[in-house]
Amino acid sequence: MPTTHPETLALHAGHRADPTTGSVAVPIHQTTSYQFRDTEHAGNLFALAELGNIYTRIMNPTVDVLEQRLAAIEGGVAALGLSSGQSASMFSILNIARAGDNFVCSTDIYGGTWNLFKNTMRDMGIEARFVDPADPEGFRTATDDKTRAYYAETLPNPKLQVFPIAEVAAIGRELGVPLIMDNTAAPLLCRPFDHGAAIVMYSTTKYIGGHGTSIGGMLIDGGNFDWEAHADRFPMLNEPDPSYHGAVWTEAVKPLGPIAYIIKARVTLLRDIGAAMSPQNAFQFIQGLETLPLRMERHCENATKVSEFLNGHDKVERVIYPGLMDGEARKRADAHLSGGYSGLVGMEVKGGLEAGKKFIDSLELLYHVANIGDARSLAIHPASTTHSQLDAEELLQAGVTPGYVRLSDWHRARRRHYRGYRSGPVQGLVPGRVQTCHVFASRCETRYCVASVTAHGFSWHVCPACPRRLKISSPRHRHARMWVMFRGQRKFSA
Ligand SMILES: Cc1ncc(COP(=O)(O)O)c(C=O)c1O
Repeated sequence: MPTTHPETLALHAGHRADPTTGSVAVPIHQTTSYQFRDTEHAGNLFALAELGNIYTRIMNPTVDVLEQRLAAIEGGVAALGLSSGQSASMFSILNIARAGDNFVCSTDIYGGTWNLFKNTMRDMGIEARFVDPADPEGFRTATDDKTRAYYAETLPNPKLQVFPIAEVAAIGRELGVPLIMDNTAAPLLCRPFDHGAAIVMYSTTKYIGGHGTSIGGMLIDGGNFDWEAHADRFPMLNEPDPSYHGAVWTEAVKPLGPIAYIIKARVTLLRDIGAAMSPQNAFQFIQGLETLPLRMERHCENATKVSEFLNGHDKVERVIYPGLMDGEARKRADAHLSGGYSGLVGMEVKGGLEAGKKFIDSLELLYHVANIGDARSLAIHPASTTHSQLDAEELLQAGVTPGYVRLSDWHRARRRHYRGYRSGPVQGLVPGRVQTCHVFASRCETRYCVASVTAHGFSWHVCPACPRRLKISSPRHRHARMWVMFRGQRKFSA
């Protein structure tokens, strides 16, 4: 597709209309198997002499559209849909590392990935060497001749400090080590390949799905890493693979393009482990992806407003948001993100563990869930949930303090961001009363809301007589006029 605009690619890459039916929406190919034309065709497919569908555990046309769209949006060459973000993380390493090997991993990663790498992979004989990304040189120091990859998250929560992708990718390219980036929290805001990463992975469960319906993952090959030039480091790609008729992947796949890494993942790991994305879920992700550019814009806009509101609030110890950071953290955010600072906001509630829990237990509209990137607004207390398997030292390393609360997304009508709290540090607006909106309280600004009567009962409007953000200097302004609306007409003021 001759465009790099994500808005266009999200709608059109990989599928325009179904060649058989003309269906514009991507069909759900709910099938396990595909009819081979003849034995020669079947033989060619199995020998990779021809690319095509064999069995849905390894490929599926609906999943294929999603793979093509995400590869196009990221600027990669090919992708592999998987059953979850966890399987994508695991495949990204297992594809190039075996027992006795190691990889260097940022300490700032999702708790589930940490556990997978630290414990499950250790039991498989693969060592994860954790390094604080504050100093990119730590990656170089931890590298030896058994190091197969660097692994990090673009925008890890809870710290929300953008990873120094360009610096670590450059170190890796010098030493012949590919950087694998988990870009789950920053789709469209960051394209890690542009900064030198070799592989990108996603939990599509989050922003890409966007509606909290499906679990899935994606592995994307940038096609920009020379596996052959570092043949000693990557024997799994450069030596005969006994699990596939002795294929040497960098050789065998050459006629198809620089896709040795992703083809191997598909035809060996996915074939053997079977962590395939279901066609139904791929369809859901395709629906989500279509509106991702719009949603990301709104997520960022709303999260910025929330972070500004919370910043300086008397019940909040500190707010964690890239847009509020300064120094090196801000420089990294500005160097790697464009179009916004994401939809995630962290805050340290004053009062520690109990205050954090109280805040969560007081929520009305926000969901208390272990997810991010949903169209709904979400909140969680990581110390007692997502990061609960970490010990005290690991929690601190990961930036999870007792009172930390993670807020996600705020994808809601612009005027209503702040309703949904019953109590806690943020007060919601109560129907039927003119009151101070705390949104801009820290800057001594007030927005007046009035109840308006409609044929269907009460609903909310900002008073049409007031500027949307009314500057006030004394409490008497709080008795500003209240307009009551009846069927769109202003009836009286009080
Ligand atoms: C950054 C990140 N990576 C990976 C995962 C794992 O993804 P999944 O839940 O789809 O397995 C998560 C899940 O929360 C995540 O937040």
